[in-house]
Amino acid sequence: MIMWEEKRDVRQQVLTDIIRQRRSIFADDYLDVPIPEDIIREILTNATWAPTYKMTQPWRFIVLQDSQRAPFGEYLAEYYRQRLSADEWPHNRHERARLYPLKAPCIIVIVLRRHLKIDIKEWEEMAAVCCAVQNMALTCEAYDIGAYWDSCDACVAYAREHWLEDHEQCLGFFYMGYYDRQKHHSAKRRTGIDKKTTWLY
Ligand SMILES: Cc1cc2nc3c(=O)[nH]c(=O)nc-3n(C[C@H](O)[C@H](O)[C@H](O)COP(=O)(O)O)c2cc1C
Repeated sequence: MIMWEEKRDVRQQVLTDIIRQRRSIFADDYLDVPIPEDIIREILTNATWAPTYKMTQPWRFIVLQDSQRAPFGEYLAEYYRQRLSADEWPHNRHERARLYPLKAPCIIVIVLRRHLKIDIKEWEEMAAVCCAVQNMALTCEAYDIGAYWDSCDACVAYAREHWLEDHEQCLGFFYMGYYDRQKHHSAKRRTGIDKKTTWLY
């Protein structure tokens, strides 16, 4: 029988491991393996357990899979071709962008949906959506799914053109895919709390 003290220690360790092992994993590293729908639903359900001031729950998600990805790839590549010079956007970059979304078995469009009746600041609702996205990222980590938040202008513009209502704003696309954890290494470190914290007594 696991004693409560022991269980508490396990919970603390598991949470710390998940938080500190989570890394942004880009679609180039994803395996061509679908993510089961019940896991996607679990990721989204955990998103909705984020804190939300005045309970406005200001998020909406759009799940892109299968045939939804190619049109976005076309748009992405064309978006930058129209805005960058030929030197900045050579053929190989264009092709890479065009095919990039196809490397992700699942992409979730992150939408901030403002509450129209409750008096709440935009940043408070935006912060709630960010908390929801972090819940998604941590859940992915727990399921060994790689993920990252892409806030590129093309994502935001694509969502606006296709799905959004006036009181909605796209905050980016959340890419997800299984990957080979053994091969992945991130050199990114964090600045210690002593440089980021003022203690007042
Ligand atoms: C709001 C937000 C937007 C981001 N947008 C992008 C992006 O557009 N492109 C990108 O490559 N990474 C993006 N990232 C991921 C960061 O680059 C990444 O979190 C950072 O490099 C730290 O690495 P780690 O997540 O592996 O710890 C974004 C992260 C956040 C929180």
